[in-house]
Amino acid sequence: MKRIVILGTGGTIAGQARQAGDNVGYTAAQIAVGDLLAAIPALAGFALEAEQVAQVDSKDMSFAIWRALAQRSAHHLARDEVAGVVITHGTDTLEETAYFLHRVLAPAKPVVLTAAMRPANALAPDGPQNLLDAVRVAALPGARGVLACVAGAVHAGCDVRKVHPYRIDAFDSGDAGALGYIEEGHLRQLRDWPAGEALGLACTQREDWPRVDIVVSAAGVDGALVDALVALGARGIVAACTGNGTLSAALESALLRAQAAGVAVLRATRVGRGGIVETTAQALPSAGALTPVQARVELMLTLR
Ligand code: SIN
Repeated sequence: MKRIVILGTGGTIAGQARQAGDNVGYTAAQIAVGDLLAAIPALAGFALEAEQVAQVDSKDMSFAIWRALAQRSAHHLARDEVAGVVITHGTDTLEETAYFLHRVLAPAKPVVLTAAMRPANALAPDGPQNLLDAVRVAALPGARGVLACVAGAVHAGCDVRKVHPYRIDAFDSGDAGALGYIEEGHLRQLRDWPAGEALGLACTQREDWPRVDIVVSAAGVDGALVDALVALGARGIVAACTGNGTLSAALESALLRAQAAGVAVLRATRVGRGGIVETTAQALPSAGALTPVQARVELMLTLR
């Protein structure tokens, strides 16, 4: 039987509340990944290996952990006896880590991120089912690419985003739609596995990750923040735009100044679903269907 490697990074799935009924006032990243696995009897039939890569609340996800995660995933995926990798992660930045790994690895085997909205000692925790489902997906013959498996749905890592701060069903794939659903332990697959060209591990080796910030266009916003970021040495700025990629006039002027000064600028829409549909050639490039945080990862990985 091929092996599945579980890389632990923390999150609510490894969280603990003082009182089992408290699904908001808990502390994330308390339980070791090996202990999470040991508490799921249905995993007994799988050949599993556990490795604790980090133990953080994912709001504190760092470039160093991303680098380690990419390296450890690549290391295990290269082993013949490994069918796939599962990553336990916090829900808050899962979207960013999934997109990061998709762009860096675009793996030919599955890398399945999973998470939970309730701590591990909740009265009815969602983590054990999500972890079981993720392992099942990672073990599927032919599965490939970076995926996210939460609340019975499987999403492509390039599409997944968090859309709810509390509900167990907190993720979706925007306009792309879920890749499939887990039903009675089986994947009902609606779309092909994600594909892409890997940027490669080399782009994660740098100590000096370029500074890329996000500014939000909103009523009354001026360009002061952009000017300050340029003065601070930002290498890239993502504009989280209104509607179909639009910006307040003052913010647009400041971003054009920044671009002229050599800062890479991308327009992404702050609207939760759908990508920017271009009408005419724009002076500031569009991030298309990328969310603002995905666009930030894209710039951090590709800026030299
Ligand atoms: C986190 O992102 O680590 C905490 C919140 C969560 O996992 O739901």
